[in-house]
Amino acid sequence: MVTRPVAAPAPTPTCDRSDVSAKTKSRRSLLRLLMGGSLAAVWTSLIYPMVRYLIPPAEASATTTETLAAAVGELKPNSAKTFRFGSHPALLVRLGNGEYRSMSAVCTHLGCTVQYQPDTQQVWCPCHNGRYDLTGRNIQGPPPRPLLTYDVKVHGEEIHVNRRQDA
Ligand code: FES
Repeated sequence: MVTRPVAAPAPTPTCDRSDVSAKTKSRRSLLRLLMGGSLAAVWTSLIYPMVRYLIPPAEASATTTETLAAAVGELKPNSAKTFRFGSHPALLVRLGNGEYRSMSAVCTHLGCTVQYQPDTQQVWCPCHNGRYDLTGRNIQGPPPRPLLTYDVKVHGEEIHVNRRQDA
């Protein structure tokens, strides 16, 4: 009797479930990564402005002690110029007698920018009609405090404004 070797059954074509499962997992991972990245970008764009608002950068004007405000001869008598002192506006006023005065241009009421009025020779806040005299003293309207005033020094052809030591 002859025995024939039993042939191994031919491999049947099957759908390899582990391969399909790996591809699906890979796609899910990619989608999760993209979704996570998108959410992180959205949250960052929402949170960053709030954090910047709550924690503002250190103010440059707190450390600025002197700045060039104008050139000699730039201002006519009874006129003024607005310039930047650090990060805030300031006023340089030339009085009728040629004397210079300088003060912050930030109203002490709600922070509007004040301006010099040659006709009244006062500093006026257009927001709520507040008024200051040329020493910075609040004389009319809602401003609760005087304006911060600065020392003015002429160096050659330049007019410099200095923060006062006691300010
Ligand atoms: S902000 Fe200047 S008077 Fe109100």
